[in-house]
Amino acid sequence: MQARPLRCRTGQMTKGSKHDVQQGEFQHGIWHYGNIYVTIYADQTGFSSPERRLSLAAVAIDIDGVSRTYPNGLRAIERVDLRVQAGEFVTLLGPSGCGKSTLLRMIAGLVPPTAGAIRLQPFAPGRAPLSYVFQSPTLMPWASVARNVRLPLELADMPEAEIARHVGEALALVGLADVADFYPRELSGGMQMRVSIARALVNDAPLLLMDEPFGALDEITRGRLDQEIRALWARRALTVLFVTHSVTEAVFLSTRVIVMAPRPGRILGEVSIAEAHPRADGFRLTPRFAEYCARLTELLALGGAGEDDLPGRPSGAFV
Ligand SMILES: Nc1ncnc2c1ncn2[C@@H]1O[C@H](COP(=O)(O)OP(=O)(O)OP(=O)(O)O)[C@@H](O)[C@H]1O
Ligand SMILES: [Mg+2]
Repeated sequence: MQARPLRCRTGQMTKGSKHDVQQGEFQHGIWHYGNIYVTIYADQTGFSSPERRLSLAAVAIDIDGVSRTYPNGLRAIERVDLRVQAGEFVTLLGPSGCGKSTLLRMIAGLVPPTAGAIRLQPFAPGRAPLSYVFQSPTLMPWASVARNVRLPLELADMPEAEIARHVGEALALVGLADVADFYPRELSGGMQMRVSIARALVNDAPLLLMDEPFGALDEITRGRLDQEIRALWARRALTVLFVTHSVTEAVFLSTRVIVMAPRPGRILGEVSIAEAHPRADGFRLTPRFAEYCARLTELLALGGAGEDDLPGRPSGAFV
C-alpha cells in the first residue's frame, strides 16, 4: 500500500499536537485524509473497497464493518455497516444493551472499535466536527447557564466577543435567553436538558449525536422538545444521529429509523419515514403514524429481549 500522510486534528488527542503518520500505521483519533476527516481506531486504515471511497461525497458518517468487543469479551457491536447522509435525521432504536451508546461513543472517538473504520464528513478548518448530547444534562452546578454553554468555546480559545455572540444565539435557539444568569438548580429538568442542547449547538458543528436526550423527561416536555429539535435540525441543516427506546419518538423525529438488537449488538433493519417537514403534532394521530410504529415494533420483535428483560445474567456468559 502506498504511504500517504495523515494529519491529526487537534483536540481529539493531546490538545495542540499535530503530527503526521503513514497510512497503515495504527493511530487512534480523527485524521485529515485528503479532504476527508477520517476517524481511525483499529489497524484497518484503508477503505474496504474503492467504491466505498468514491461514493463518500454526501456521507456524514460512514460506518464500515465496525465491531466493538469490550475487554471482558462482551460483543457490544458486531460488524455494523451504516451510512448516514448529510442532512438526514437518523434514529437508532433498540432495547437496552444493544450497543446504541457504544456506537455513538465510537463515532465521537470516545472509545475505539476493535475492527472496522468510521469516517466523518469533511468540515471547515477550526470548526468542530460534531457535538454530543449525553443522556443526562451533565451541567456544572456551580456555573450559570451562560457559563455552562460557553465552556466548549472557552476550551477552543475563541475570542471573547465571538463567544458572547455564539452563546447568545445558542440560548435564543433553545428559548432560554432570559435565564442566562440562572444556575442549573433554578431550572426545571426540561430546561436543564435544553441548556445541554445549547451547549452542544454552540460550536455550530454540522453533526449532532444525541443519546436518549429526553429519556428522563415527562411526556409533555418530551413532546415539546421533540418539536424543537426537529425545527433546529431543519433550520440549521444539521445531520442528527439520535438514540431512543421510544418507537413513537423515533417515528415522529426521523427521516430513517435503524432497528438494533442485542447479544451481539447489530442492525436488524431500517424503516424510512417518508413524511414531509414540518410535522405537526397531529401526525401522531394519523393511520400512517400507526403503520410506521407497527413496522418498527415487528422489526424489534425479531431481535428478542433486551437486557432489561433478562431474568438474570449467567456468570461469565456475556455473548
Ligand atoms: N465499558 C464497558 N465494559 C464492558 N461492557 C460494556 C461497557 N460498556 C457497555 N458495555 C456492555 O455493552 C453492551 C452495550 O452497551 P450500551 O451501553 O452500548 O447499550 P445501549 O444500547 O446504549 O443500552 P441502553 O439503552 O440501556 O443505554 C451492554 O451489554 C453493556 O453491558
Ligand atoms: Mg445507552
